[in-house]
Amino acid sequence: MNNIDYKNLGFECQETHANYISYYKDGLWDDGVLKKSTSITISAFSTSLHYGQEAFEGLKAYRRKDGKIQLFRPFDNALRLQRSCERVLMPKVPVEKFIDACEQVVRANADLVPPYGTGATLYLRPFVIGVGDNIGVRAAKEYIFSVLCSPVGSYFKGGLAPNKFMVTYNDRAAPNGTGSYKVGGNYAASLWSNHIAKQNGYADCIYLDPLTHTRIDEVGAANFFGITKDNKFITPKSPSILSSITNKSLMYLAENYLGMEVVRGDVFIDKLDVLSEAGACGTAAVISPIGRIDCEDKQHVFYSETEVGPVTKKLFETLTGIQYGDIEAPEGWIHIIE
Ligand code: PLP
Ligand code: COI
Repeated sequence: MNNIDYKNLGFECQETHANYISYYKDGLWDDGVLKKSTSITISAFSTSLHYGQEAFEGLKAYRRKDGKIQLFRPFDNALRLQRSCERVLMPKVPVEKFIDACEQVVRANADLVPPYGTGATLYLRPFVIGVGDNIGVRAAKEYIFSVLCSPVGSYFKGGLAPNKFMVTYNDRAAPNGTGSYKVGGNYAASLWSNHIAKQNGYADCIYLDPLTHTRIDEVGAANFFGITKDNKFITPKSPSILSSITNKSLMYLAENYLGMEVVRGDVFIDKLDVLSEAGACGTAAVISPIGRIDCEDKQHVFYSETEVGPVTKKLFETLTGIQYGDIEAPEGWIHIIE
């Protein structure tokens, strides 16, 4: 038994029993092993350290009411990691290897998958890095694929309590850059804006499209969605947004479980009054209601700064109901760890 206070857990690293590591050399991945320490030894010349040759994923293991453990759409994470690896010239991790590594890590840490009803989960962090001696700007010859984990609670403070966000004019990605890939460089580029937002009392920043700075792109490390005043689910479509598996799921749930029209379109920062509710969504963020957005000297309040709107609440209940196994999922969304 451990003494983690799961109900009040934030998004921090906790000690775990094991993580997975596999090495790629001479064109082949080895079988991979579980190990206890989260430390690794790599060359200080590694491309991941100097040139950001890195890609990662984030997914969660959920404890169901019947005690079983399940993953949510892990095949989508496996495919997205392959796409990210391709973009930064790293070898792809085969889908079966990715799933097997996640399963091994969850099984080895099964007692750390938080109890049903606490709202906490075991977060899995698969990643691939370029390693080995390398001084020029080129792809490494050797790689590590690893899956770390940690029990986590809310990413944004207060769970379903609305947060306020500030618009930044600093971009996390270029118009034709790597924004749609889950690669480390985008997150390094986001640290400054995130820091300024937090220093000013905001939960995070809102990124605008990097070409015109007129439309909402993302909310920190989460996608943006809005509910229009005529009850449509709207979410931006832009080449610099990470394609969120949570958002893709919400679009499906809005249409097929809630009977809403789904629009992939522009959300102009100076036309927020078309929306009655807004939220941030992602694996870490789950659904976090956006109470208010501040842009320069203008403030826009959505449904409420203190209460979650009815549609956001319904989406949250439906999504998490599926993730924790209480609501029947569309085919292929749930992967039970036997
Ligand atoms: N956008 C960014 C920049 C992210 O880092 C994440 C997190 O993975 C998301 C959106 C949400 O994606 P997902 O729902 O697949 O976790
Ligand atoms: C996720 O939601 O899984 C993320 O990767 C977001 C963040 C913690 C980087």
